[in-house]
Amino acid sequence: MPPADPATSSVITLHINGEKYTLPVDHRTTLLDALRERLDLTGTKKGCDHGQCGACTVLVGGRRSVACLQLAVAAEGREVTTIEGVAEGDRLHPVQEAFVELDGYQCGYCTPGQICSALAVLEEHAAGWPSAATEDVRPEAGPPPLTPEEIRERMSGNLCRCGAYVSIVRAVAQAAQRTSGTKETVA
Ligand code: FES
Ligand code: FES
Repeated sequence: MPPADPATSSVITLHINGEKYTLPVDHRTTLLDALRERLDLTGTKKGCDHGQCGACTVLVGGRRSVACLQLAVAAEGREVTTIEGVAEGDRLHPVQEAFVELDGYQCGYCTPGQICSALAVLEEHAAGWPSAATEDVRPEAGPPPLTPEEIRERMSGNLCRCGAYVSIVRAVAQAAQRTSGTKETVA
């Protein structure tokens, strides 16, 4: 095998779920392919590979990112969280618990992306970020109630071909209630 061409490849170190991984990558390798094909972290799913479905959602520096549109080299030095890093040992995160308890999935293919996205939704909402569904966006109005409409809008980048949306919205609402103590708004 010919030596790697430094013009088209580099050795990078990725920080994923608290672990360091050093690997050579072609500069065109997406974070998604690095996770799945090189590091065996197959919890992150490939749906469209075009940034349209959200199946590959991970957290990069605490923010949502579709890993199919991010180059692995661009993730170097940033903390990446995938679905494998969400639970603490055998203890599920409240978002994961809510998805299990309320059947927030059918086939489960979109679920890792839905859960990573929901984690960010809760953070973004707690930080007071408005969404397109927020009626009063003035900073002094504070975080809007996490209504089903708010949740649907904030989770709208994650598609589910099984159509488990009703349960997904309920699961996100329950997780929000458990993590913040706010009143659950979904019946
Ligand atoms: S696989 Fe990345 S958005 Fe669909
Ligand atoms: S649970 Fe099957 S695609 Fe969402």
